[in-house]
Amino acid sequence: MASGEPQPALARAAVRALRASPIREVANAGLADPGMLAFWFGEPDEATPEFIRAAAVESLAAGETFYSHNLGLPALRAAVAAYLSRLHRPVGPERIAIASSGVSALMIATQALVGPGDRVVAVTPLWPNLVEMPRILGAQVAPVALDFGPRGWALDLDRLLAALGPGTRALYLNSPNNPTGWTIDRASQQALLAHCRRHGIWIVADDAYERLYYGAGGVAPSFLDLAAPEDRLVSVNTFSKSWLMTGWRLGWICAPEPLVGALGTLIEYNTSCAPVFVQRAGLAALDRGEPVTLAFAARLGRARDALVGALARLPGVEVAPPDGAMYAFFRLRDVDDSLAWCKRLAREARLGLAPGIAFGPEGEGFVRWCFAAAESRLAEGVARLERALAERRLRA
Ligand SMILES: Cc1ncc(COP(=O)(O)O)c(C=O)c1O
Repeated sequence: MASGEPQPALARAAVRALRASPIREVANAGLADPGMLAFWFGEPDEATPEFIRAAAVESLAAGETFYSHNLGLPALRAAVAAYLSRLHRPVGPERIAIASSGVSALMIATQALVGPGDRVVAVTPLWPNLVEMPRILGAQVAPVALDFGPRGWALDLDRLLAALGPGTRALYLNSPNNPTGWTIDRASQQALLAHCRRHGIWIVADDAYERLYYGAGGVAPSFLDLAAPEDRLVSVNTFSKSWLMTGWRLGWICAPEPLVGALGTLIEYNTSCAPVFVQRAGLAALDRGEPVTLAFAARLGRARDALVGALARLPGVEVAPPDGAMYAFFRLRDVDDSLAWCKRLAREARLGLAPGIAFGPEGEGFVRWCFAAAESRLAEGVARLERALAERRLRA
């Protein structure tokens, strides 16, 4: 094509409207730098435990290289159901669909529930995928922003209930939340469930971080503790965080039984099935991985305290300890373009953080720091941030 000619619009309008990831934009500026200290992505810094890897190796050695059930291996569906029943209320395997990652599980749930013109409400700031998935399918997303104060992030429940008017199709809620760590309390869950029941609104609960919770009991309050099997609740979860399995791409959906057949059909047309050897690894994780989850959460709790304590002492930083997940999401006084600031920080201080704007306009002025890292690296990162803040050009 001759230069200067307008490019043809090949993709659908909803797809053309998708934002490129600002986190990627920052990371691309610094990934090649071996001296970069990066905390921009949300992933554990340890490899998957050996016994989980061994289960996949064994499966491959046994020749399990074929297509399999749309909804997942019956043994894995049963194991997920038993796991959820242990944490929450009893759940049967017929309510479980296994998907190739939490992201894919969320997309499949969204394809099942949300269509063009539907109105969806999302509690923000929020991991961008959850907002973009309904948009890809043509829905309108109405954000309801959390409030930030000295005690951390808080939900204005009345504002959320008011936003969930009768024509709303679904509420998207991630708790513990990426990026803020905000975790919904039981009373708010009860009020939301009652309201959504009354108006026939689906709750899409992203429970990816439910085991990375620093409150009593170590398991975040879940809608699965309250809901009846027939409630319009879809709980999505992943092996990525609780069992250090980000690269494996394995997750699940827990839904009312009458929806599960449709989820299986959608899985057929998305991926057909999760790879069997990956599902075997998931089975090993559920069978023997509880100590892994507990140790990781305990380690993260210590990292959280160390990082938040150190950040709170820096001038111009407003931070509160997150209730869950693995991020400090803190405000930098005088920073009003977090993307430009994070790029400069990466270039000049060799410190990689995620710009708050990546999580919606409500995140502007904030940055996200993933604290799933060794405490020595976190301390070195804080020292770099402190030096950068002391230099005038990085102050704002
Ligand atoms: C809030 C939230 N939900 C779901 C996921 C999905 O994880 P995965 O696709 O690795 O299973 C992530 C990953 O970062 C996340 O932050």
